[in-house]
Amino acid sequence: MATRRLGIVMYGVTGRMGLNQHLIRSIVAIRGQGGVLLPNGDRVMPDPILVGRNARKVAALAKQYGIERSTADLDAALKNPADEVFFDAATTQMRADLLTQAIEAGKHIYCEKPIADTYEKAIKVARFAQTKGVKNGVVQDKLFLPGLRKIKLLRDSGFFGRMLSMRGEFGYWVFEGDWGQPAQRPSWNYRKADGGGIILDMLCHWRYVLDNLFGKVLAVSCLGATHIPSRVDENGKTYEADADDAAYATFQLEGGVVAHINSSWDVRVRRDDLVTFQVDGTHGSAVAGLTKCFSQHRVNTPRPVWNPDMPQTMNFFDQWEEVPDVGSENGFKIQWEDFIRHVTADTPWHHGLIEGVKGVQLAELGMQSWAERRWIDVPAIKL
Ligand SMILES: NC(=O)c1ccc[n+]([C@@H]2O[C@H](COP(=O)([O-])OP(=O)(O)OC[C@H]3O[C@@H](n4cnc5c(N)ncnc54)[C@H](O)[C@@H]3O)[C@@H](O)[C@H]2O)c1
Repeated sequence: MATRRLGIVMYGVTGRMGLNQHLIRSIVAIRGQGGVLLPNGDRVMPDPILVGRNARKVAALAKQYGIERSTADLDAALKNPADEVFFDAATTQMRADLLTQAIEAGKHIYCEKPIADTYEKAIKVARFAQTKGVKNGVVQDKLFLPGLRKIKLLRDSGFFGRMLSMRGEFGYWVFEGDWGQPAQRPSWNYRKADGGGIILDMLCHWRYVLDNLFGKVLAVSCLGATHIPSRVDENGKTYEADADDAAYATFQLEGGVVAHINSSWDVRVRRDDLVTFQVDGTHGSAVAGLTKCFSQHRVNTPRPVWNPDMPQTMNFFDQWEEVPDVGSENGFKIQWEDFIRHVTADTPWHHGLIEGVKGVQLAELGMQSWAERRWIDVPAIKL
């Protein structure tokens, strides 16, 4: 069986996501395991070139992870016909322009979400990729979380009966940076002008999670908030945090399912995980976190008594059964492997840029709903 090489121009690998999830956990891991297996038994070995503004920084990263090539010259990297794929995990605001440049150079495209900071730019770049006939994709990592794969398993088995509602709770406390604990997320997230805001960040994810697992999103009502108006940045400087840092959003889904998801960087966690999704259906319910999932069938549903005069006698957490493991492979890596197979062996792929357009669309409609204080229907998109 043969091993072929796939040249990948990787941009934004000095960032949090680019470095940890895409370079280390995905590409370096794939190289370490001997490449990606194709359906015909051949293998594909990714051969990345790390590109960044600071030549020394990317050279050091390359050296650290056993990668031969790095450069600060993006134009030159895009001109090399031996590198077929362009990947971007840099800042959101530059994404649409970078993707456009790479598509012009004939590269296949893979990138982080959101695929652009406005719907107009998102649809334009997706249409451009289609016109040019390049393969394209956007990261949809939440679909590969073991917790949500277990929800899919339950749904596909008919466990829920008729699905009624889904309630999502996402968030944790992001330190303000002004009293001892440094902030643990990049400061651009909290500045509008730099592409920040939790609505743009998270509704992109919620769109594909809802569409794929609970029902196509038909309408949105969203209330945003900027609870903490001032934070301290990476350099210890106080800045105005003018972007939304919490979003309380309700969605109407196909099939009559009502979904509500709270997303917040200003909540303290007292639940199973940093994100939890509770699904209730006529025949059963389930609660999934990032990895674990617990279910309760109708026949196991307790009959609690409301009595304010007595402390609760039931432990409601004990009444759920854990769904067995479905494997714990890193989701970013699984999706990278799928994309590499799609590019090199034309295997099916369900995460094209059009899916990214839908995410940006929902985020924009969420912001519109907040601004206009009303429900907004989600129109179908035609590429
Ligand atoms: N899939 C997910 O779960 C997930 C999670 C977090 C972030 N993201 C997305 O990943 C992207 C990066 O987020 P992050 O949290 O890693 O941010 P980060 O600030 O840690 O990284 C940003 C990267 O962009 C580069 N960059 C910034 N400004 C630049 C400029 N002017 N020119 C060239 N490069 C520049 C930085 O050097 C760095 O490599 C964002 O689009 C974000 O929405 C996705």
